[in-house]
Parts: sequence; C-alpha cells; structure tokens
Amino acid sequence: MCGIIAHIGEDSALSPLITGLEKLEYRGYDSAGVAVKNGSGLDVWKCSGRVSDLKNSIDDVETKANLGIGHTRWSTHGPPTDTNAHPHTDVSERVAVVHNGIVENYERIKEILIGEGYEFTSDTDTEVIPNLVSYYLDRGNEPVAAFQHTIEDLEGSYAIAAVIDGNDSIYAARQGSPLVLGVGDDEYYLASDVPAFLDHTDEVVYLEDGDMVEVMTDGVTIVDENDQLVQREIEQVDWQPDETGKGQYDHFMIKEIHTQPTSLQKTIEGRLDPDEGTTDLDVDMDLSDIDSVHLVGCGTSYHAALFGASLLNRCDVSARAIRASEYDLNTGTPSENALFIAVTQSGETADTLGALRRANDAGVDTIAVTNVVQSTAAREADEPLYIRAGPEIGVAATKTFSSQAVMLTLLGQHISSVNADASRVDNLDQLVSDLQELPDAVEQTLQTSDAARLAKKYLDNDSYFFIGRGLGCSVAKEGALKFKEITYEHAEGFASGELKHGPLALVTEETPVFAICADDCEKTVTNAKEAQTRGAPIVAVSPPSHAIADTADEHLYVPEMHPVCSNLLANVQLQLLSYHCATELDRAIDKPRNLAKSVTVE
Ligand code: M6R
Repeated sequence: MCGIIAHIGEDSALSPLITGLEKLEYRGYDSAGVAVKNGSGLDVWKCSGRVSDLKNSIDDVETKANLGIGHTRWSTHGPPTDTNAHPHTDVSERVAVVHNGIVENYERIKEILIGEGYEFTSDTDTEVIPNLVSYYLDRGNEPVAAFQHTIEDLEGSYAIAAVIDGNDSIYAARQGSPLVLGVGDDEYYLASDVPAFLDHTDEVVYLEDGDMVEVMTDGVTIVDENDQLVQREIEQVDWQPDETGKGQYDHFMIKEIHTQPTSLQKTIEGRLDPDEGTTDLDVDMDLSDIDSVHLVGCGTSYHAALFGASLLNRCDVSARAIRASEYDLNTGTPSENALFIAVTQSGETADTLGALRRANDAGVDTIAVTNVVQSTAAREADEPLYIRAGPEIGVAATKTFSSQAVMLTLLGQHISSVNADASRVDNLDQLVSDLQELPDAVEQTLQTSDAARLAKKYLDNDSYFFIGRGLGCSVAKEGALKFKEITYEHAEGFASGELKHGPLALVTEETPVFAICADDCEKTVTNAKEAQTRGAPIVAVSPPSHAIADTADEHLYVPEMHPVCSNLLANVQLQLLSYHCATELDRAIDKPRNLAKSVTVE
C-alpha cells in the first residue's frame, strides 16, 4: 500500500504535504514525492528513500504554491527508484498524479497512448493516469471532464489525486482504496488516512467507492458512482493529534506497547456490566441460531482470530480461524447459519477483504472487527465492531492485537449468552472483573518486565522458539511473528505438543525456547523439558507459581488472572522482548525492511 495526501488552502502547501507524508510513512517508505502548482507550471520533487530524504532535498525551497499532492510508496510495479517514485506526470508536466492501488488494465492503456505519441519513462502502472488526463485535455475536454473520462477508463482499485497546470482544483477519486477528505478552516486535505492531517482538523468526510471529487479553495463537489452530485456527512474523529506522534518515545512501537492500558480501557469502555458480572456488547445482529463461525485475518490479526476461535470452541461453538489468503481454498461453502468475522486492524487488507466479499456473496452474516472507522471492511461487513485502539503507526501490530483479542472475547461471550447450543463461558464473573483490571495489570507488567535484560542475554542465537497450548498457542505464534518481523532473526511459534513431532530436530543450546504457560498447561512443562534435555535454554512466560517456573532457566512473569488476561499479558512480555532485541540489533523498528503496515494486494 502507499500513502497519498493533497492540500489546498491559503498558505503554502509544501509544509502540510511533507508533514502529512511523515504521518503516512507507515503505509510505505521506499520512495516519496510532492508536486505543487506554482504560478507558471507544476514543480515536482521526488526521490527513492524515506520522506526525510525528500525533505532534505527541498529544505531550501520557498514556494507560495497553495495547492499540491504528495505520495509515499511501497512498490508493487517497478523497483523503488527516483523515476518510479510518485507523483507521475505526463511528459510535458502538465498533469501530476499520485496513486494508491493498482491499475489492472494499464498495459492496454499504455499501448494505446504510445500509439498516439505519448511518452512513458517509468515502470509503473500509475504513469498511464496523467497521460490519459493529458490525452483527454488534448482533445478539448475541460480539466474536470478529462479527469472523469480518465477514471471511467481505469480498471482496478485506486485512490487518486491529481493537479493540472493552469487550474486551481485538486481532482480525486476513490475505488477500493481509502481516501478521506479533511475539512479545515479555509483549507481542505485529501489523504489515505486521518493522521495525515489530524494536526490541522478532525472534521472528515469518508468518501465512498465510486466518488469523484473536485476540491477548490472555497468548496468541494462530490459526484457519486451514478454521476449524481452528492453531499456527504462531515464527521468528527475522536483521535487526538498527540496519538499520531512518538511523544517521549524513540519508536512508535514502544509508544504503542506502552499505550495499551489506555487503548484496552477504550476497548472495554461501556462493554462490561460488572454489577451483573457479565458483558454488554452492542451487537445489532441476531446470533441466536448461528451454527458455525469463521474468523478470518492475516498475520497478527490471524493470531487474534486463533485466540477468538479457541474461546468460542471452549463454549461449544464450532469456530475456525482461517488465514484470509487461504479462505477460498480451505473452507468449502459456509452453512446458511454461519457467521463470518473479518479481523483486520486497518480494514483494508486485500486478502481479508477478498474473503469478506466471498462470505457476503455466499449470503452469510458478516462482522468486521477493526480499528479504522469507515474502513472498507467496516463498510462492507453487515456490522462493524470497532476495537477503539486509536491510531497504530508502527508496522508491527501491538496494541491492536490486545484490543482485537479482547473484542473477540466480548463477542464470544455475547454469542455464548444468546446462542441456544452454546455453553456458558468458564468463570464469567472472574473474566469480567479481570478484564476490568487488565489495563492496570498491563501497566504493572510494563513497569516490572525483565524483557530488556533477557533480550541482551539471548541476543546471539541461531533461532528462537515460542511454544504454548490453546490461547497460549496463538500467543506463541504472535510472539514469533513479532520477533522475526522486527529483529530479522529466525523465530517460530508452535503448539507446544507439536515440538516433538519434528521441530525438536532443530533444538540445540543455540535455540532459546519461550514457553507460554499463562494458564493451566502442565503438558507444556513436559514439552519444555524435552527441549531443555537437548540443551535449549527455557524462558518461562508464566505466573511465578506455575510449575514451569521451577524448570525454566529464566522468567518473564505475568500475574495469575483469567486465562484470557494472563495470556494477553504474556503477549505484552513478548512484545517487549522483540522490541528490546530489535533495539540491540539496531533494526528499523517502526519500518521493518520489505514490510508495509497493511497489504492492499492479494
Ligand atoms: O490491517 P490488518 O490487521 O488486516 O493487517 C494484517 C497483517 O498484515 C498485519 O497484522 C501484520 O501481520 C502485522 N504488521 C504484523 O505485526
């Protein structure tokens, strides 16, 4: 995915464009660029590398241009070179375009345009867009019509913003990729995500697929997919500007790990009923006769789905966590009374959206458990359930895993309480009171964790194994994903019972094994001992009183709480471990190599 921004106002556009790109850099960081309209043409600056490289290259530029567009790229078509960086222009630099998404029919359009004498310099699909606008301008169309004809010719998914020399508007369109309009005092923004302009305004319009927008200094017109002029509601976002900065922290990841007491508090707010000892989730859907549940996600969200499925199965609700990219291959036709739950922080992950669309086509009830209000998953599912974790900028998902898992716990409890065939949640009273305590318990874990010392101690090893059972298995898999994602070291997460069925062959004194024993799991102790016998150092991630603590060489302690909470605290310990190892190794923690925050290609 990529990040796009556009700005029009009374003052110079350059500074809000650059700060906007800095906020969007989590969406892609292999090249960046901006284009502004000055009095006598378009100025375009772009380069491979980070937004900071772009910023340095234009530091001494002074411009009064009050209108412009910007882009930060995660490359799909063509390597991250200066030439492939956005904005792309036609050869005469009359039209400049930034684009997030894929133009599927770009080869055919390019062939036609080359036949008409238009010239191309990059490897990207995007470059056809400014050339197509130019083509229509050359045939006498007004700018707005030239842009509209161009959009009509494109196939694929996109969010696009364009500026045209000699014209005082920004043109934009959305089809399958996010695009939000920010409404300020005498100024407007367009961006892939709200943090890009949150310092300036919290008033937003979530554009719909098929919308085409013309933004001028004194107003906006929106035409919908049926070519009708429409008014869209202005909403106020409840994110604060300080949520999108690093504050006192060195990295977004560690800030977001430390934000978990607050983000979890928001997730549970108004959703627990401590007086009745139960939960109070507002679900506008009849779940009394569902007979199976598919929980679908990718990466960290898939691990949250595993967590949720495990809880539902404990209540005798038939539930499966399925990797979104495997959904059509491994699922078969869902039953008429199935429930589909898309688990996705961004709500924009292409694999997850693909699975959600298949479930919608099959006519089953669908829910999106997501963080981003009005994201595509939130709009396309029958019902969105927001985890309210606040903006997550670090590429490694941390606070959103915790909030997703809590939200799925609340949903699981809701299902078990309304579904005739389900059994009740174990120790519901304790679950409710421990969920209330969870924010404080996370704070306590953050204050007392020994993860920084263990990170130093175990830094120099061949491989890192994480094992656990039940809820602990999803935590083990998540712990390993986080570890490999930001340290670039090899790590695997296993169901602890599986270790002896193959992976044990890899175990040596150079493979520390982190045994997650946050709840009753005596068998994991046996499995850990099997690894220890082969020389592996064992780190217990458990309450101090657990049997694993006597066996282990080192400890990351969690308090004894309801298994949902103690396992989530175990995960917090592993987040810290990954973070400190990555810091020791001097890795690019917030922007790990080759990764983007959410992946909008299948
Ligand atoms: O936005 P999503 O939750 O749908 O993203 C899914 C994965 O790409 C994401 O969880 C990824 O695995 C994380 N960056 C891992 O930390």
